[in-house]
Amino acid sequence: MPYRYVIKGTGFYSKSPDSFAVLENHLFCVDNDGTLATCITPGTAAYEETRDTAKTDGSLIVLKEGQFLLPGFVDTHVHAPQWAQTGKALDAKLPVWLNKYTFPLEAAYADLDFAETVYRDLVQTLLANGTTTAQYFGSVHLEPNKLLADLCADAGQRAFVGKVVMDLPAQCPDYCRDKSAEQALADTEAFLRYTADINKQTVQDIVGVVTPRFIPACSDDALYGLGELAVKYDAPVQSHCSESDWEHDHVLARTGISDTKAHLRYGLLTKRTVLAHSVHLSDDDAELYRKHGASIAHSPLSNAFFAGAVCPVKKRLDQGIRVSLATDLSAGYTPSMFDAMRQAIVSSRILASGTDYRLPAERRGVSDSDLDFRQAFYMATVGGAEALRIRSGKLETGYNFDAFIFDFNVLQSNSRYYEFDNLADVLQKIVLTGQRQNIAALWIQGNAVSLH
Ligand code: GUN
Ligand code: FE
Repeated sequence: MPYRYVIKGTGFYSKSPDSFAVLENHLFCVDNDGTLATCITPGTAAYEETRDTAKTDGSLIVLKEGQFLLPGFVDTHVHAPQWAQTGKALDAKLPVWLNKYTFPLEAAYADLDFAETVYRDLVQTLLANGTTTAQYFGSVHLEPNKLLADLCADAGQRAFVGKVVMDLPAQCPDYCRDKSAEQALADTEAFLRYTADINKQTVQDIVGVVTPRFIPACSDDALYGLGELAVKYDAPVQSHCSESDWEHDHVLARTGISDTKAHLRYGLLTKRTVLAHSVHLSDDDAELYRKHGASIAHSPLSNAFFAGAVCPVKKRLDQGIRVSLATDLSAGYTPSMFDAMRQAIVSSRILASGTDYRLPAERRGVSDSDLDFRQAFYMATVGGAEALRIRSGKLETGYNFDAFIFDFNVLQSNSRYYEFDNLADVLQKIVLTGQRQNIAALWIQGNAVSLH
């Protein structure tokens, strides 16, 4: 059977939070529609025939020693306009950070030229870092969000994009606010229609997302209206939930219920809802995520700045809650999902050990909360794909071929591969040492994407 191309080599993908598959020296056969048609095991009759046919056709890609195939990363929470302030402004707490730095910056995206320069650079940077799917918060404006969706479509990235809704005068300054709840809903609806149109003309997904910034920034009218739009368009939802003591307490004081229960009341806790942070959850709140199939976008780096606590990810996974991983640019200061995986592991280990050496070791930390490379890899790939309900994140028959080659041999690599490393060690090394320069080639929906 003629495939579009066949990749011969060793691949890894996550099967569950605790386990992964190693496909040693397989043939990964990609169809014309960009799905993985089959993975052929060495030693079978089809193996030699498929390899030889592809070789004759010139469609065989052979991985070298020290090169491995991995599913692309799914970053489920990125603030596109904040790319321009990445690496600064993290010397303030969340409400100050929003008002002093972030809202003035986001307001600047009314200028489409500025938006184009920053967004083009961001999309290219995420691709170069192995992020084949990103879920973006845009800004409050309609037009620059359309531009962001267009740029993702053109660059070949699978993208979920939301027009941010923030209409409450008490929390949002005049210069960065929807003029009214009606306007916010009309713009959201226009944006959902726009993205549905481009999605039809694009091979990979371009999906509009219902995006209340967070409950404190939105009126009840806007929140209920967004819940209705999510139903009308069967649209995904993204927001922030129980990020910090301040946010959690603010929503409790305003609504009389927890942030999670308020999302449910507004119709914003669905199986297509991705809520960033979700740190300060009660057991009841957590159970609502599980029951409704909503997911947590774990943002370990930004949590270290703003959350005031460590999200108990291991516990949430054990409770059967969907958890994905996110950079949360720019409250997180790196666009790299390698860095996000490492931060998830490090934060969890500090949660497990505890922080105050003056306490006896057995009372210092939260037992059974440490993550390792397996859960980190899971969240960065399968966890994200399942949260967004896309068939990506695995090297399995029928899945979208969103993948990259990790190359230990590149110049200036911080990763080392030795023949005596077993394949589990190789995956652990990739998670703990990998960087963007190790990504040698990348495909989304089967299409090779330029990394430069
Ligand atoms: N809460 C409301 N808006 C934001 C944001 O842009 N970043 C973070 N980390 N939290 C938020
Ligand atoms: Fe965020």
